Amino acid sequence: MIPFILIVLFLGAPAANAASDPPDTMFERVKPCTLCHGESDQAEQHVYYPRIGGKPAGYLYNQLRNFRDGRRHYQPMTILLENMSDDYLMDIARYFSAQMLPVYQPELHSLQSAERELAERMIFSGDPDRDIPACSDCHGRALMGKAPFIPGLLGLPRVYLSAQFGSWRNGGLARGQISDCMSEIAEKLTDQEINAIAKWLSIQVVSGNPEPAGNLSPGLTQRCSSIVQMEIES
Ligand code: HEC
Ligand code: HEC
Repeated sequence: MIPFILIVLFLGAPAANAASDPPDTMFERVKPCTLCHGESDQAEQHVYYPRIGGKPAGYLYNQLRNFRDGRRHYQPMTILLENMSDDYLMDIARYFSAQMLPVYQPELHSLQSAERELAERMIFSGDPDRDIPACSDCHGRALMGKAPFIPGLLGLPRVYLSAQFGSWRNGGLARGQISDCMSEIAEKLTDQEINAIAKWLSIQVVSGNPEPAGNLSPGLTQRCSSIVQMEIES
């Protein structure tokens, strides 16, 4: 765990003025972020800090605004982002989005065949009887996301995936408030389904590409309307 005070000091440091200071580039400016989130070319991965390189810019931008404005809660990040303008958050989002997808080592969980079938059914077909669309309808056939605001589902640790479902389900406390479609879906899924899905996703090899935004049907766009609106507003 990195002492938080060091990170704050780092981010608060004045821009390069002495010859010995590092140049004032985005790479230098986001160093406090990469202390936790990692550089995209590093192979190590942390179970809880999500990788952010290569995710869609609109999605990253929305998350940064959510942390800054108190709609998504993780205090160290809220403090770091507190005084940043929308434009600057967009610069940061574009910077990380343009990076290569990080190297991901698929986790080593073994799935029983019933668990695997359940996960694959929910991910690729959903459950029309319970009005649950397939994850792939929104997140893309390759599960690599759809530009500009739907993130990919591969390359995320199981612990992180389960934690996200936990926060969508607990009444919008951690991140549910703004993610209308994900909170709705998370509430309909059983614990067993979430466990199977998180396990299945975390053992996949990351491959394929994000799809363009145009592929999202009007019905599904409507379901996530608050997020889409945030994107359009910006
Ligand atoms: C002390 C460690 C730490 C630091 C420093 C930090 N983050 Fe985070 N960040 C996290 C954690 C933990 C989460 C996941 C929180 C959650 O589950 O809601 C997160 C989530 C995010 C997300 C959302 C990811 C997603 O896929 O939804 C983005 C974007 C992000 N951070 C960007 C940044 C940026 C940009 C900075 C620098 C200004 C930064 N972070 C600094 C720990 C950190
Ligand atoms: C109706 C469209 C839709 C469907 C169906 C859908 N999602 Fe999402 N999902 C979204 C949107 C939009 C976001 C971005 C939320 C935000 O901006 O906070 C998201 C975000 C996520 C994230 C956060 C990723 C990250 O990097 O933090 C996870 C995990 C996720 N979805 C998993 C799933 C799973 C698993 C399913 C199937 C059970 C699913 N989603 C079905 C629209 C959808």
